[in-house]
Amino acid sequence: MQVTSVSQNSTTPRTHAFLGETVQSLKESGLLRSFRDLQGAPGPRIVVSGRSVLLLCSNNYLGLATDERVKQAARVAIDTYGCGATGSRLISGNLEPYATLERELAAWKGREAALVFPSGYQANLGTIPALTGPGDAIFSDALNHASLIDGCRLSHAEVVVYNHCDPQDLERKLAARSNVRRKLIVTESVFSMDGDLAPLKDLAFLADRYGAMLMADEAHGTGLFGATGAGLVEELGLQQKVDVQMGTFSKALGSLGGYIAGDRNLIRYLVQKARSLIFTTGLPPAVVAASTEALRIARTEPERRAALWRNVRRLREGLAGVGFSLGPSESQILPVLIGDDRRAMSACRFLLRHGVFVQGIRPPTVPLGTARLRVTPMATHTEEDIDSALNVFRQLRGLLDSPKRKGSRRSSAFSVPAYSE
Ligand SMILES: Cc1ncc(COP(=O)(O)O)c(C=O)c1O
Repeated sequence: MQVTSVSQNSTTPRTHAFLGETVQSLKESGLLRSFRDLQGAPGPRIVVSGRSVLLLCSNNYLGLATDERVKQAARVAIDTYGCGATGSRLISGNLEPYATLERELAAWKGREAALVFPSGYQANLGTIPALTGPGDAIFSDALNHASLIDGCRLSHAEVVVYNHCDPQDLERKLAARSNVRRKLIVTESVFSMDGDLAPLKDLAFLADRYGAMLMADEAHGTGLFGATGAGLVEELGLQQKVDVQMGTFSKALGSLGGYIAGDRNLIRYLVQKARSLIFTTGLPPAVVAASTEALRIARTEPERRAALWRNVRRLREGLAGVGFSLGPSESQILPVLIGDDRRAMSACRFLLRHGVFVQGIRPPTVPLGTARLRVTPMATHTEEDIDSALNVFRQLRGLLDSPKRKGSRRSSAFSVPAYSE
């Protein structure tokens, strides 16, 4: 085909007005997101803009991302296998470290088999549409993570949202859909932004009663709950009742990669049907080897969990003592509710200026009007670290409580630009 006319202005970049307009309007409403440049390793402290500050918003709960044994496992894998997997798992990417990881993961989760995806997001995005489709119904907790929501949307099944952690509402909705082909109940086990726990026993009971499959996302439970750290499902003894145990290596295990554990047929089925596994390159072998080492450490060193829970208790009591509301949190995730988006970002900047890094979380990650500081300590923080953070939170409380300037919508304590992260 011949191109007959080339515009005189072909070197002028095209502009699409909606791009700039959207960014501008997010700026004006205080919702613009931007990256923060962090330097050095994400340990108990991190370097932000050249200053070492306490890191209290990472998911590296057990400190495994920087553990020497985990790093060494990755180095050895690089020397043995190189850097990239070079293909999807079903073509040339299923290098040796996968088999070891999936075997140990299945045993840890108390299930027959396990399957590793490139990320937790992809595990959810591939698994939910593989299990359900048009004519089916998915029952999804109102506060489920975006990856679960996106998996539900991709499935083209009817998505029935039930009230957060409310088995009675779920039961009403299950009972009203007795004729659908397949039913799937989907929930996080430890909710990522509120830190509360799903009523998994009730959900398992309802799944049995209504013939539904039950899927629990253990992204924030893995490594932390249960006698061997396998998750909340282990703690509640529900390994055989939760049909689809999902999780990720990217939080407490300090690595990368999502997974599903369940019975052998589930895993064989997903290998045929989960598009986010089939049509993407396998994880680098070093990442898989790091995950295996992190899993072994998490399983065999309960003292790490104990250290984390000690820090959580100290921080929780201190924050509550200063007068912050932590909502229904029962886990390592301590949400300090601020409410207003700009105030939350101002609070974040105040903490950072005083040596504590806690990112502000705004909609759409959390519902409108519930902006917050999501505080997460690590096993590797010391008591002194926790106490010095509490000191800064105490000052923040004072500023948030200080009277507002006349005519100003904001606390006089904060002088914030109209926008910025
Ligand atoms: C509840 C939940 N599920 C899934 C994911 C996605 O996991 P990953 O970061 O491994 O993609 C996250 C991470 O943000 C999460 O919080």
